Amino acid sequence: MLAKNASKVGPRYPQVVILVGATGDLSQRKLLPGLFHLCSTGFIPGCRIIGVSLDDLDPDGFRRIARQALDQFSSRKVDEADWAAFAATLNYVPMSAGACALAAAVEEAERSLAGESRRVHYLSVPPGAALPAVRLLAEAGLVPQSRIIMEKPFGTDLASARSLNARLHEVFDEEQIFRIDHFLGKEAAQNILAFRFANGLFEPIWNRNFIDHVQIDVPETLGLGKRSGFYETVGAFRDMVVTHLFQILAFVAMESPTALEPAPISEEKNKVFRSMSVIDPRNVVRGQYTGYRSEEGVDPESDTETFIALKCAIDNWRWAGVPFFLRTGKRLAEGQRIISLAFREPPKSMFPVGSGVGAQGPDHLTFDLADASKMSLSFYGKRPGPGMRLDKLSLQFAMHDTGLIGDVLEAYERLILDAMRGDHTLFTTAEGIERLWEVSIPLLESPPPVRLYPPGSWGPKSIHQLVAPHAWRLPFERAWRDPNPVGA
Ligand code: BG6
Repeated sequence: MLAKNASKVGPRYPQVVILVGATGDLSQRKLLPGLFHLCSTGFIPGCRIIGVSLDDLDPDGFRRIARQALDQFSSRKVDEADWAAFAATLNYVPMSAGACALAAAVEEAERSLAGESRRVHYLSVPPGAALPAVRLLAEAGLVPQSRIIMEKPFGTDLASARSLNARLHEVFDEEQIFRIDHFLGKEAAQNILAFRFANGLFEPIWNRNFIDHVQIDVPETLGLGKRSGFYETVGAFRDMVVTHLFQILAFVAMESPTALEPAPISEEKNKVFRSMSVIDPRNVVRGQYTGYRSEEGVDPESDTETFIALKCAIDNWRWAGVPFFLRTGKRLAEGQRIISLAFREPPKSMFPVGSGVGAQGPDHLTFDLADASKMSLSFYGKRPGPGMRLDKLSLQFAMHDTGLIGDVLEAYERLILDAMRGDHTLFTTAEGIERLWEVSIPLLESPPPVRLYPPGSWGPKSIHQLVAPHAWRLPFERAWRDPNPVGA
């Protein structure tokens, strides 16, 4: 079904997408379902997709993989007529066929589209495979009229990120490069910008005078499935922290940009990264879930972390002295993606001992970054009845309640569309990424030992020392209010 205003927000020209890593995990889970949704709802005014990967497949084999991916991973029902139209846009060239075969497939795709079109190369490959893919595209003469979306992690340390940027710039201009971090495409992440900068209410208290500490906590219940080969070379810090969690931290911590445009937003984010103190390995807990080492594709003596928690600092006027605690890991007790700001407590209390004031932690502002996003502001209020007993209450907002949840684009969909339109606002920059690798040097050079944790837990025990005297916000003491209570 066509989406409202789809043709107005989509790219001007039809697009030929060269999807490198087309049979991989990300492509199956997100990119193919996302492209399907964008095509079938009319956001792209004409599209051809050429899958490229190491697998020796023919176009029909690729179509079968794409269909299975949609059936398994699309969050929306697949309409058969839409599928037939989408399947007709798919083609496939195995990497082994080389640059000439790829160039021929792109030429054929472009000929089949009426009039002018643009190319989007999507590199959904591990860090080591990025440059060979770039060389293939250059050899095939596919650089003109194109944009290139690069998946994270962008390099694996400062030296490799710098060299990747330098080599990339030999082929593509910076204007053509879109370094993707899909957390920035999440509706809820962009809502942080709206919340902070479209209201006069919170910004005045958004600083060290009122905020005690911040947590960005992204535990996952997921294990590694077929990704252990990739993950083993990367680990939780490179997979999640130096990428997604730091990018979200920048949205939480940055000053107000002068405009909602790429340069002012990147400038403010990069200022946050420049103010970040280098990471002290003593403020880091690395963990690995028991059983990881016996998984297929994992070194039996692997030192790769599947969990990481760390304390970071932003040493500027707004945030000096406010710790930012970050945590993420695989096979943990719950899947959540929250940002939580704890406010300072009042300096004095007139309430008698035992009234409950402060007993349930500080006031919190909490953002849930799920597609169906939520926000909550918790505070103390009086429990009804005689005397003065205090309880933790909350004001909550759930996207579900707006009736607009169907309009939410998934993060990858939003960002693919932005790249096709040439809009860099929600993409990361070379400077920002290089600075993040720079602050990571002490940790990458002397990582603390990995500590085992049982699957289904919240990580190694030492996470509590890391946040003391504070406490981890998760697991929540009080659940989110159910937006659709039974019987409502
Ligand atoms: C990816 C990581 O970038 O983000 C995965 O490589 C992780 O390991 C995923 O599971 C989480 O994304 P989301 O959108 O499901 O929160």
